[in-house]
Amino acid sequence: MLTGRHVIEPADLSIEEMEEIFSLAEKIIVDPSAFTDVCHGKILATLFFEPSTRTRLSFEAAMLRLGGQTLGFAEASSSSASKGESLADTIRVVSSYADVIAMRNPKEGAALLASQFSAVPIINAGDGGHHHPTQTLTDLLTIRACKGGFSGLTIGLCGDLKFGRTVHSLCKAMSRYPDNKFVLISPQELSIPEYITKDVFEKAGISFTTEERLENVIGDLDILYMTRVQQERFFNEQDYIRLKDSYILDKEKMKRAKNNMIVLHPLPRVNEISPEVDADPRAAYFKQVKYGMYARMALIAKLTGVL
Ligand code: NCD
Repeated sequence: MLTGRHVIEPADLSIEEMEEIFSLAEKIIVDPSAFTDVCHGKILATLFFEPSTRTRLSFEAAMLRLGGQTLGFAEASSSSASKGESLADTIRVVSSYADVIAMRNPKEGAALLASQFSAVPIINAGDGGHHHPTQTLTDLLTIRACKGGFSGLTIGLCGDLKFGRTVHSLCKAMSRYPDNKFVLISPQELSIPEYITKDVFEKAGISFTTEERLENVIGDLDILYMTRVQQERFFNEQDYIRLKDSYILDKEKMKRAKNNMIVLHPLPRVNEISPEVDADPRAAYFKQVKYGMYARMALIAKLTGVL
C-alpha cells in the first residue's frame, strides 16, 4: 500500500511497488485524458531550497495534469527559512496546507528529517549529494521503455560519481535486479562513495569495474548514464575548473558504442554531451524528461491514494 508513504530513497519502495508505479505510468502514457481529474481537490507543495528547473516543474506539471493544484517556493530566500525558521517547523506548517510535499534541500538527510514532522507524504526531490528517488523512477521507466526490462544490463556511469545523487539512487535501484554489471567511469577524485561499493554492490553481489577513460569501455555498454560535474558541491573553484570537462561525449566516441546502447542524462547538461549527439537515435535524454513527468504523475496518484 503506497498511500500516505514517504519516499526518501529508492529502497523505500519495494520492487513490487516500483512495478505498480511503472504500470500506472504506462497506462497514463497510453491514455492521459483518462487521468485529468483524478487528483481534483488535492494540493501538492513543492518546497525547493535549492535550484531546479526540471524536477520542480515536472512535479507541478504532473499534479496539474492529474487535475490537482500546486503551491510552494522555488528558492530558500523566498521562504521563512531565510528568517531562521527550522525545517521541522516549515514542514509542520506546510503539511497542514497540502496533501503531499515534494522537497529539495542542499543538506543530506533533510528529507528524512522532514518526514519525521510531516502529516502528509514527503517526496525527496534531492537531498544534497545523497539521493533523488524520483529521478530514479524516471530513469527506470525510460530503461524499461527502451530496453524492455531491468536485468542483464551493463550500465556505464560517467562523470561526477562522488556528488551525483542521481547516480547513487540509480545504483541502489538497479542493484536489486539480477545480472547487471556496472562500469564506473570517473576521475579518481570523483569516484563513487564507498558506501555504494561496499553497502550496495558488494552486499548485492553486483560486479563492477572502474575506469578513467570513457573510450576504453563505451563499446561494452548497454546504457551510458552521463552526469554533470556538480559545481555547487565543490569546496574549491579551482578543482571544479580542472575537473569540469573530464568527459565530453561526442560523435567520435559514439562510433565505438553498440547500435542499441542508450545514452541517459538526468539533465541539466553542461559540456558533457556535445549537442551533435542529440540527433543520434541512441540519445534518450530528452525522452527521459517526458518519462519523468509520467513517473511523478503515477507516484503522486499512489501516495495520495486516489488510484
Ligand atoms: C539532477 C539533480 O538535481 O541531482 N537534476 C535533476 O533533478 N534532473 C542532476 C544534476 O543536477 O546534475
